[in-house]
Amino acid sequence: MCGIVGYIGNNDSKEILLKGLEKLEYRGYDSAGIAVMNENVVHVFKEKGRIADLRSIVDETVSANIGIGHTRWATHGAPSKSNAHPHQSASGRFTIVHNGVIENYDILKREYLMDVPLKSDTDTEIIVQLIELFVNDGLNTEEAFRKTLTLLEGSYALALLDKQNNETIYVAKNKSPLLVGLGDGFNVVASDAMAMLQVTNRFVELMDKEMVIVTKNKVTIQKLNGDVVTRDPFIAELDASDIEKGTYPYYMLKEIDEQPLVIRKIIQNYQDKQGSLTIDQNIIDAMNDADRIYIIAAGTSYHAGLIGKQYIEKLAKIPVEVHIASEFGYNMPMLSDKPLFIFISQSGETADSRAVLVEIKKMGYKALTITNVPGSTLSREADYTLLLYAGPEIAVASTKAYTAQIAVLAILAEVTAKSRGIKIDFDLVHELGIVANAMEILCDEKDEFEEIAREYLATTRNCFFIGRGIDFYVGLEGALKLKEISYIQAEGFAGGELKHGTIALIENGTPVIALATQGKVNLSIRGNVKEVVARGANPCIISMKGLETEEDRFVVPEVHELLTPLISVIPLQFIAYYAALHRGCDVDKPRNLAKSVTVE
Ligand code: M6R
Repeated sequence: MCGIVGYIGNNDSKEILLKGLEKLEYRGYDSAGIAVMNENVVHVFKEKGRIADLRSIVDETVSANIGIGHTRWATHGAPSKSNAHPHQSASGRFTIVHNGVIENYDILKREYLMDVPLKSDTDTEIIVQLIELFVNDGLNTEEAFRKTLTLLEGSYALALLDKQNNETIYVAKNKSPLLVGLGDGFNVVASDAMAMLQVTNRFVELMDKEMVIVTKNKVTIQKLNGDVVTRDPFIAELDASDIEKGTYPYYMLKEIDEQPLVIRKIIQNYQDKQGSLTIDQNIIDAMNDADRIYIIAAGTSYHAGLIGKQYIEKLAKIPVEVHIASEFGYNMPMLSDKPLFIFISQSGETADSRAVLVEIKKMGYKALTITNVPGSTLSREADYTLLLYAGPEIAVASTKAYTAQIAVLAILAEVTAKSRGIKIDFDLVHELGIVANAMEILCDEKDEFEEIAREYLATTRNCFFIGRGIDFYVGLEGALKLKEISYIQAEGFAGGELKHGTIALIENGTPVIALATQGKVNLSIRGNVKEVVARGANPCIISMKGLETEEDRFVVPEVHELLTPLISVIPLQFIAYYAALHRGCDVDKPRNLAKSVTVE
């Protein structure tokens, strides 16, 4: 979703801001802008569309040592130039960028700003107009900023420029991610460390309801009551090359290909010196103390959670419920006596999940976050964290994070099971090794998956995915991948459920992708395929070695029955990728979507 950058130092800020915004493109956006300031003149450039569109209107002759920038994912008001950030106060003295949603913006508008003509439909403009109002009432900028922050309800990451002060960026955060990056003779602000790795890898985390006065030589963090906070910086363990595409045309393709490596990295990171899988004892104790586990997640992470439930119940014998975060918040089920919450989130920033975390912490329950991003909000605010070690995932469509989540959940289930004296009759390290090799084999079959995409999806308007048991959950993920990047209407169903309604949608040629990796239900899913074929469907059966028949379109290598999701999803990821590519879609940045969904 929206992303923020800011720079103050000795160099020209334009290019640093634009490069930073390019690194935030992956979060999803529909307009972008920068404001740079020199000799008390603020130059604002903003445009609907891509950073490339913004670049084309930036005046190269302007040079300025201080500036802020923004990518906007529309919430209040359509994607347009006038709604794009930065926004300015009535007199033009103050200029602001904002990530988040101000829930009480309308109340504030009616209470304070009825006489101020607004130039946009955004909630953000209210903030900058309020600051100017309070300055006109006699406060200095810092006081006016602070007073405004105390009035805001909702989420924000903010960066503000004051035309009368060339030496300061005013920054604040609540619920939306924001970091301050430290340099020698300069300082920066960014929603994500990746945006500013070009100039520094030293960052300071900000907590909710903190404001920061950033000058080129100093960063002062304060609470809203003015108390100064000291906090050590951390080094972002990111390699700039991790966030480059290299020779790949799209990040998604690179990230699919990285999956064997990610599985091997996970094995390494969760192994002790003797080679056994290991997890922080506090986490295992929390698992064992729980009488029921509640997995909370969204989108792809929710799909990984469905598979995690199978692992934890089958191996560790602890009952598990999996909930969609945005539903759980207002429709909380009856909780058990001793629940443990597991939040699964690639980004660690998903607002729907965070809202649940805040709620259950108030109730005094323990939480574990499984995330790809150390230091992310969900990681910081939970009691425990397990990392995915997948490396930055840039494409909006999640691929390697999904398989990493499943692998980490398998490890968590196995280690918990063993701690309870439950005997596991397979060696998970060995089996994950087999998975990594099988993934490699699949990554070498790209041509075949491209052909499948061409054969089944070139002109179709819809596509169904069916499976039974664990294959059903993978089908849900396959459908999500396909719809989000190719815009083909796609749905996943339990094989036996089709005949209860959805089969009415099957027409001549409707593609039905069926997964058959589970011995126990192999015959039944094939029966379901026959049912749709009898109604004209064009079936594409993806089975696993050992269960295959002549009618199958693709056979994945054999892996342990519980780990098949790690393998069977890969053809589905490739098929979605090629279907989107063939249709001329922007694979990495699908329309309307954001990588990190920081609004509820
Ligand atoms: O960062 P998270 O894992 O919390 O994100 C959750 C979903 O927004 C995310 O998985 C989304 O569904 C992806 N675009 C799917 O590819």
